[in-house]
Parts: sequence; structure tokens; C-alpha cells
Amino acid sequence: MTAIIWTVLGYLLGSVPFGIVITRALGLGDLRQIGSGNIGATNVLRTGNKPAALATLLLDSGKGAIAVLLARYFGGETAAILAGCAAFLGHCFPVWLGFRGGKGVATFLGTLIALYWPLGLTACAIWLLTAAISRISSLSALLAALASPFLAWSMGRSDLILACLFMVALILLRHRANITRLLNGSEPRIGRKD
Ligand code: G3P
Repeated sequence: MTAIIWTVLGYLLGSVPFGIVITRALGLGDLRQIGSGNIGATNVLRTGNKPAALATLLLDSGKGAIAVLLARYFGGETAAILAGCAAFLGHCFPVWLGFRGGKGVATFLGTLIALYWPLGLTACAIWLLTAAISRISSLSALLAALASPFLAWSMGRSDLILACLFMVALILLRHRANITRLLNGSEPRIGRKD
């Protein structure tokens, strides 16, 4: 019962579209009409406002982490895993935006860090290393996500493999347009609008 309650609360927390909230509050325009139209930090950066992008990154990852930590405290490890996955799901399909949400990367990383920090930080390192080399956010996200089930297995956290696979599947689904652009060489570099 506790796990169900934390899954629902995790979903509601994950549904808060911080990118939209922040860009609206700062008068930066409608994020859905800018760049890729995505509600995440990468697209907020395309407004040219770096602090807004950083705040979006921290809040979108923080909502996954908070969902996990609260659920773990009150409901244990299974509740934590379910709440983290639910927060991620909420970001991708938020009730507050008619279920049309983001690509889930920041929330995925925040959730992983809170679930098992060595796994989360290794996924972040893969993101950062790929971004440093390629300057492409989606490629960095895809590599970090795809590595996560293997990392969970190699770190002896087989209990997290299913959660990783669930999030990887949705991240791949949400990055269909990015994957097409990556394949035809037209995916924009970080901070670029074109
Ligand atoms: O984290 C989202 C990123 O992987 C892609 O974002 O705006 O370039 O489609 P965007």
C-alpha cells in the first residue's frame, strides 16, 4: 500500500515541468516553440539563459532524487525504485501538460543517483565525457542511458536492472527524432539552435 502511494506521489512530483515553469517565470517565451520544443534543460539553454538551464537541470533531476529518498525513508527500497520510475514517467508524460512532456534524461540521472549513487554518478560521467567530446546532448543521454542496465549488473545491483531497462526504453522512445537527426548528421550541438 505504501509503495502504491509513493508511486502516485512520485508521478505527481515528476509531472512538474520545471523547464516550462522557469522559462515562463523569466519571460523567456514558450519553451515548446523554441529549438527542439522539448521541456528539458538542453532546450532551456537554447533561450541563451544559462542560469535558467542550470536551474531546470537541478530541479528536473532533483524531483527524481527527492521522490526516491522520501519513498525510501517512508516505504523502503521497493517503494523507492517505484517512486523513482514513476517520477521519471511523470516527467515524460505529465498530467499537468496533457501527458505531453519531456525526454526524461535529467530525472533519470537524479533518480539513479538517489537509488545507488555509484551507478548514478557513473551514468553522469558517461554523459559528461560524451558531451565533452561530441557536444551533443542527446548522444550523451543515449549512451548514459544504454550503459545503465549493464552498470547496475556489474555493480551487483541486479535489483535495479528492470528499472534501468524501463527508463532506457522510454528514453529511446522519446529520442526518436534525435536519433533520426543523429543518423543524418543534423543533430544540433549543445547551446546551438540549428
Ligand atoms: O536531455 C534531452 C536531450 O537528450 C535532448 O534534448 O532539446 O536536444 O532534443 P533536445
